[in-house]
Amino acid sequence: MALIGVFDSGVGGLSILDEALRQLPEHDYIYLADSINAPYGEKSSEWIASRSMELCQYLAARGCDAIMVACNTATAEAIAHIRNELSNIPIIGVEPGIKPAAMQSANGIVGVLATEATLKSDKFSALLATLPNCKFVKQAGAGLVPLIEAGQANGEETLELLAEHLEPIQDAGADTLVLGCTHYPFLRKAIRKLLGDSINLIDTSDAVVRQLKRKLEAQGKQLNDGDQGSIQFISSKDAELLHQMAHELMQSDLTERSTQSQLVSTFR
Ligand code: DGL
Repeated sequence: MALIGVFDSGVGGLSILDEALRQLPEHDYIYLADSINAPYGEKSSEWIASRSMELCQYLAARGCDAIMVACNTATAEAIAHIRNELSNIPIIGVEPGIKPAAMQSANGIVGVLATEATLKSDKFSALLATLPNCKFVKQAGAGLVPLIEAGQANGEETLELLAEHLEPIQDAGADTLVLGCTHYPFLRKAIRKLLGDSINLIDTSDAVVRQLKRKLEAQGKQLNDGDQGSIQFISSKDAELLHQMAHELMQSDLTERSTQSQLVSTFR
């Protein structure tokens, strides 16, 4: 059994944790939300890189066998540096799924909704350059993360703001939309309401967790013994609220695990 650290600027990485619990339920997890500093997407590259490093060092010091940087923004700005510093632990990042989107799009027009920092990053530009035959309509989702953090994923204000952000993507005729921020899978319902069922939504949580699985197998840490591991929820703002939001946002049933091993604490 392994201890897996999962971190995000806030509740977004819960979409990755949810998938990890589906595919790899037997491991123990620490979920670390830096909600006091969310959103990361409008902060400087230097700040994001240094804070992400600090949080990963904390997870490494807690004894994590692998760390998931469950944040596209932190991955774009910091993953190379983190991998360099913590070279003895597998560090798994998340990137906007523009490759699968380009492969799946029938008309070659793909919308990418992500944070400003992700869209401006060198890493994202390098990824885009590998796919010259597809038209990408990039849109920063300014203001969406704070609303999701406030538990308003399906609220009226969110729907209005989302409609504004999606308009250029819709106008361009995109048949595929990349959810390029781990908070955005929690907007699926709202997106479907606005764009209907025909648009193909791409998020990479499944692929990211499969990558984690491969890394754990390589370390001999893959068990599949049918047991359920524990989850610790840690927040820089309000761990009780994080725990409550995890229950609300995630599809995995946390009650079994929570009663056995729930530990809520605060990290600053
Ligand atoms: N969930 C994050 C991402 O995937 C960061 C969102 C934010 O804090 O701006 O990019």
